[in-house]
Amino acid sequence: MDKIAIRGGNRLSGRVRVGGAKNAALPLMCASLLTEGTLTLSNLPRLADITTLMRLLVQHGVEMNMDGDESCRAAGRQGLTIGMDATGVNNTTAPYDLVRKMRASVLVLGPLLARFGNARVSLPGGCAIGTRPVDLHLKGLQHLGAEIDLDQGYIVAKAPNGLQGGEVVFPFVSVGATENLMMAATLAKGTTRLVNAAREPEVTDLGECLIRMGAKISGLGTDTLEIEGVSGLHGAEHPVIPDRIETASLAMAAAVTRGEIDLIDARPDHLGSAIEAMEAAGINFSPIEGGLRVSCNELVGTDVMTEPYPGFPTDLQAQMMALLTTASGASMITESIFENRFMHVPELMRMGANINLHGRSAMVRGVERLTGAEVMATDLRASMSLVIAGLAAEGETLVNRVYHLDRGYERLEEKLSACGADITRIKEQS
Ligand code: UD1
Repeated sequence: MDKIAIRGGNRLSGRVRVGGAKNAALPLMCASLLTEGTLTLSNLPRLADITTLMRLLVQHGVEMNMDGDESCRAAGRQGLTIGMDATGVNNTTAPYDLVRKMRASVLVLGPLLARFGNARVSLPGGCAIGTRPVDLHLKGLQHLGAEIDLDQGYIVAKAPNGLQGGEVVFPFVSVGATENLMMAATLAKGTTRLVNAAREPEVTDLGECLIRMGAKISGLGTDTLEIEGVSGLHGAEHPVIPDRIETASLAMAAAVTRGEIDLIDARPDHLGSAIEAMEAAGINFSPIEGGLRVSCNELVGTDVMTEPYPGFPTDLQAQMMALLTTASGASMITESIFENRFMHVPELMRMGANINLHGRSAMVRGVERLTGAEVMATDLRASMSLVIAGLAAEGETLVNRVYHLDRGYERLEEKLSACGADITRIKEQS
């Protein structure tokens, strides 16, 4: 397994381009299952999770066409362009082998059921940040008339006469359940209302793409979505939004070194209250042409609680904690979305951080300096927090299990070293 070695202490400065959002790209790719037309997505990030989902879609019978990618590259456009044609889908089973690798695979359920009237999708199982059930996805689909059984670890869903519009009131906000239901409802008979829906920019991006494909959706960006079912969708072209989590992660990487970088293609309007939290910690943001300038002279402690968008994202909690380990004063970080998302705490403490855990909250007391260490992360965002800590630490930090990082950060070491970080990938000896 590859490792990443970082020698901390270099102040970051330079320009970095933010890639397409992984969490927008995955549901968008699943939306290709809804139509016989070709859905062409551009600005897809080149990430392991995208490859995993491509593999899943191909085994359903989706044809992937990368021809457009060459011309996009030639035109100097970054990101991957893929045309997806789901005319020949001949298999509505999503097998355990692929689904267990990536929970977002469960997003094929709504589209397959809506278009073909049946789907058999493996239950994703546990993951490093908690149990993460899919009960809201299933209850919502049942509201739209689906019959759902669980059989040998698989969700078996049927709607032989098609789905029927209805009102689904989510007891709490779920990004994935909102996306699955929104996709399914586009082809249901009648109108569907999703109440207490997720408002994340990735949900809105999916909705905008579905509208381009002929869906009738109103209320995007609010907590109530109304979807009027149509008899069929058609192909479309859609660029994936820039990744807000990568944007903020890179901003924090620069800030922890008290540096200054320009984030090209960053969309500050997608950062919600994360911007305010980072500003409260001492990071300065100023708009520049085509992006955002980030700088920091001094970090100060601040309290943060994760919440659904536009609140502070749980996907930035670990990185924010790493940032605040060297701030002056104390910070209270509360995780309200996932029950077990503090796996990075003992690793940060091995680097000299002063953190006390009390249930769902962590008290971080800023220390003068961190020291490099060999560390290991159990999930994607936790890995990024260790990279951020490593950039500030004295001496060498060796981050193990880099495959977690590769799931969600494109060419991270290249982007950071281009800004002056001393960071290298140590390839696995085979
Ligand atoms: C998505 C993101 C993930 C992010 C999360 C929260 C993608 C591919 N992943 O994950 O990076 O951390 O949103 O912003 O977009 N829950 C249930 N039952 C359900 C569904 C969810 O209890 O049926 C719970 C989860 O366990 C969690 C909370 O609801 O505690 C929110 O999860 P959800 O918003 O659904 O996360 P994902 O869509 O899986």
